[in-house]
Amino acid sequence: MEEIKIKKKELISIVQNTKTYKNPKVKLEQYTIDALCAVDIVFFAGIEFNDIQNKLIIDLGAGTGRLSLSSAFLQPNYIISIDLDIQALYILIKNVKELHLEKLILPICCDVKSIPLEIQNLNKEYKITTIMNPPFGVQKAKADRSFLKCAMSFSDVIYSIHLTNKKVQKFIENFIRKFGWEIDYILPYTMILEKAFPFHTQKRKQIKVNVYRFIKREF
Ligand SMILES: C[S@@+](CC[C@H](N)C(=O)[O-])C[C@H]1O[C@@H](n2cnc3c(N)ncnc32)[C@H](O)[C@@H]1O
Repeated sequence: MEEIKIKKKELISIVQNTKTYKNPKVKLEQYTIDALCAVDIVFFAGIEFNDIQNKLIIDLGAGTGRLSLSSAFLQPNYIISIDLDIQALYILIKNVKELHLEKLILPICCDVKSIPLEIQNLNKEYKITTIMNPPFGVQKAKADRSFLKCAMSFSDVIYSIHLTNKKVQKFIENFIRKFGWEIDYILPYTMILEKAFPFHTQKRKQIKVNVYRFIKREF
């Protein structure tokens, strides 16, 4: 394994300075992951489990790109950043350009429910790690399911953030099991949510989440 040179602190500062949503859309649950959380997750995936270096990374619901941008510093093959909102991707592209990561990060505007077959087929050529911060399904029920279903259709391993809740965990466990997947690891985490919408009453709020690592079940 080639040595990862960037220090966590340095990466957090880079990610912290990236642009975020101008007019976040409530329906799409467009809140930005905090920089520390984004970097912790990619270090968890890339350093603890070696799931980034020389892998194709897919960031589903990439938004303005913090998970994609963080992953880019841990030597992936390529990163595909998918979001259905073209305005979010426009900001992501600005961030990519600013950090000179154009050769590494490819943004694609599409719905996770209709991922082009060409992307799904990339798993014939690459080991695919999906890293995602999907909508929790608070604004649109079941939104998280489409993300999970999509990720399971082409990934070798998946990292996904969900609210800490016993019922949610049971649901996820049963849902992915039907597709031949299982929970391999759970990292409990406290995310910082900055005020993004008028109905957010606090400037910053801590929310308890679980970062899941999903793998295919062995039969
Ligand atoms: C919680 S935000 C996460 C953004 C970014 N990944 C981050 O962590 O800062 C969820 C993102 O998923 C996108 N999204 C919601 N529904 C989607 C769908 N059906 N297909 C693709 N993207 C979707 C939203 O536009 C939004 O950017």
